Formats: sequence, C-alpha cells, structure tokens
Amino acid sequence: MTRIIDGNAVASEIRDDLGDAIETLADAGSRPGLATVLMGDDPASQTYVSMKQRDCEEVGIEPHHVDVPGDAAPETLYETIDDLNENPDVHGYLVQAPVPDHVEYREVIRRIDPLKDVDGFHPENVGRLVAGDARFRPCTPHGVQKLLEAADVDTEGADITIVGRSDIVGKPLANLLIQKADDGNATVTVCHSRTDDLGEKTRSADVVVAAVGVPELLDGSMIGEDAVVIDVGVNRVDADTEKGYELVGDVDFESAKARASAITPVPGGVGPMTRAMLLYNTVKAASLQTGIDVDLP
Ligand code: GUN
Repeated sequence: MTRIIDGNAVASEIRDDLGDAIETLADAGSRPGLATVLMGDDPASQTYVSMKQRDCEEVGIEPHHVDVPGDAAPETLYETIDDLNENPDVHGYLVQAPVPDHVEYREVIRRIDPLKDVDGFHPENVGRLVAGDARFRPCTPHGVQKLLEAADVDTEGADITIVGRSDIVGKPLANLLIQKADDGNATVTVCHSRTDDLGEKTRSADVVVAAVGVPELLDGSMIGEDAVVIDVGVNRVDADTEKGYELVGDVDFESAKARASAITPVPGGVGPMTRAMLLYNTVKAASLQTGIDVDLP
C-alpha cells in the first residue's frame, strides 16, 4: 500500500506546537505580528495572502496587511517596506510575488530587514543558509523537510532528485538537504529544463521532489519502485468545475502512486506545510527580536 503523506495533518501538529510558543511571547507582552504586502490585484495572490492572514488569526499571530496599487511607483512599495522595517508590532513580513513588471523583485527583497524576512529570501539569509547557519529556512523547502521527517524518511545517504531550480524551492532545498545535519546528509541531484534524460535521474532516486511548475510533468514511468514522491507543484488547469479550473501537481498522481512507497497529494500535501512554516518563521522572528526564548517544533 502506498502511503499518502497528509500535509494537513502534519501542518496541524506544527501549528499546535507553535501555539504554545505564541502564548509564551504574548504573555510576555510581545504577541507575534506578521504583515503581508500585495502590490496589484492578481486573484491568485489575493487568495494566497488572505489564507496567510487567516492562518495567523487561527494561531494567535496578529495579522497586518498593506495593499499597494499595481500602477504605483516602486518607491511607494519601498516606503511601505521602510515603514514595516520600523514597525515594532510587525516581527515578520513578506511581499507577495509576483510583483508588477516595472518593479524589480530583487530590489524589493534587499530592502527588507533580514531579521523580518520570514520568506528567507534576503541575500543575507540565503548566504547564512548556504553556510549551514540558517536563520529563516524558506517556507516550502522547510516544509518538505518536515514532511520527510513525518514520513520517517531518513535523508542521510539518500539519493534525492529535485526537479526545479527556483530561488524559492529548488536551490534552497538542495542546499538544506546537503547540510551536515540530521535532516540533511543527502546526495542531491538538481534537474531543470536543460537536463538531459530527466527520467533517468528521477528513476534512480530514493526521493523525488517535483518543483518545476509544469502540470503532471512526471509520471509513474519516471519514478523508481518504492521511491518517495514529494509534489510541490500547484498548477491551475482548465477543468469542467464550478471555478473553471482544478489544481494539479507536477506529478501525475495515480501513475506515480502505483510505483511509490509514499506520495504527497495536491492539494493537501506541501501547500499546508508552506503556510505552517511561515507561521514558524514569524514566531522565530518574534523570539529573535524580543530575546524571549521559545521552543520551536
Ligand atoms: N509567491 C508564491 N510563493 C511565494 C512565497 O513563498 N513568498 C512570497 N513572498 N511570494 C510568493
């Protein structure tokens, strides 16, 4: 029987554990605060941001939100960032990507106070992660590590193939999995659009992580017998549903499930973990800024 790795259940446990840490901070007068910034009115981004707000409310983190008009000058967004850097009630924040074309996202990231960068995208935080001294692990890679742990997958010595080399998932996950650490020590292969014979690299892996943003790119023929499959993809494809679309991963679930020993579903796999780890980073940010020690899950 193939195990379906339940991201909702693992995320729920993490949120429960974070609740204790949030109470400790709140009792000491420092309820953690998370701000989201949305420039423009992309519907998918609006949905993601409102889910992050709701998550905060559920665990006792104070949510803040700033909307910036999509046609505003980059300086308007920079002013918002400067205000958030100064705001003591906001311990962490993120600027939802993508931003409009006339704004350079890298510039935006560089302006964020690294101590409030709960996405873990600031170059200082990227550098610390690569150096093995991570402050904030980016939420999706950290969520993948927690899922592997929950599924009793020992990464030490495991051959892990990551499909996708994005700054948000592929690159940081590869760096985390090669660290000398209990949740690292893997042998990592990173594949991308120029990779020759992708199937050969995925079939030989003990763990395949698909994070490429191509609907159902990987099917069962590309998965080794009894491998573990982690599907990071969330792709909207046209479908005869009420909304006119459905969500599918980067993996063809049914054929991959027939080969794998364990697999994450879409939705309900990595997605809830990404959201939980954002809360985790917010609690960590509040702890670092206030000097109040908390136990993190
Ligand atoms: N857009 C899609 N994923 C993310 C994320 O993890 N962080 C931010 N800031 N924007 C995103």
